[in-house]
Amino acid sequence: MFTKLREKILSKEFLSSKIKRIIILDSVDSTNNYGQLLDRPLDGTIVIANNQTNGKGRNGREWKSFNEKNIAISMILNYPKSNEHIGLTSILTANSVIQTLEMLDFYPRVKWPNDILINSKKISGILSEAVFKNNKAKSLIIGVGINVNCGSSDFFEGSFDYRIDPTSMFLEKNCIFSREDVIVSFLENFFKWVDEFKCKNFETILDFWLSRWDEIGKNISIVKNGKKINGNIYNVNTKGELILQVDNKEIVINSGEILV
Ligand code: BTN
Repeated sequence: MFTKLREKILSKEFLSSKIKRIIILDSVDSTNNYGQLLDRPLDGTIVIANNQTNGKGRNGREWKSFNEKNIAISMILNYPKSNEHIGLTSILTANSVIQTLEMLDFYPRVKWPNDILINSKKISGILSEAVFKNNKAKSLIIGVGINVNCGSSDFFEGSFDYRIDPTSMFLEKNCIFSREDVIVSFLENFFKWVDEFKCKNFETILDFWLSRWDEIGKNISIVKNGKKINGNIYNVNTKGELILQVDNKEIVINSGEILV
């Protein structure tokens, strides 16, 4: 269980100025679902769970979080006035995870739209969801899962179809990490990147991410408007969209479209 987490978060002046409410749960189906049920959550509400029983991944997949071993956290922000650059909120969240890992001497890379990999294995995933009231987006819930202390036997107990082979901080460095300290460091990085977003420093956010991205030139297939398209990865723009080169034309792909 988290014993000192609240104190550790609040002992950081920067975080206590940004975080309006901290909800720490022992067990919940999904921290994102919990956030969806809050009535008018304040900008800067954080939901953290020791364990998730039905964690959600992108595109309707399941996300495994092992009791007491990993991090499941959702940050709730007011929905930005314009949603033009909304895709960058996942990118800035990936930047925050990357920085946290780099500070601990890991060498993370990103995979569009928002997988974080170490040695080509997935260590962290991000699921962003809007909260609608009367057909209007009011809040943004950004959920992050980080595999901290779980081992191979956790990942491969039972049958689970991992799209990308998983790894954890423990598996990569053979030592146990304090989840509380990783959370505090992640939140400090996250709210700094949120400030960059609020200041519209979109290029700064994207450049950090691009410098940890190795997929340029890779050939991929995608389903867009029901049609399968094959092309080469060319770039990511400041809306967080992927640019694919198909027969000398550029096609823009958003993160809701499914890569096959
Ligand atoms: C993915 O890579 O498919 C996204 C995984 C996101 C998992 C996190 S864990 C905290 C939050 N609550 C959820 O149910 N999902 C996200």
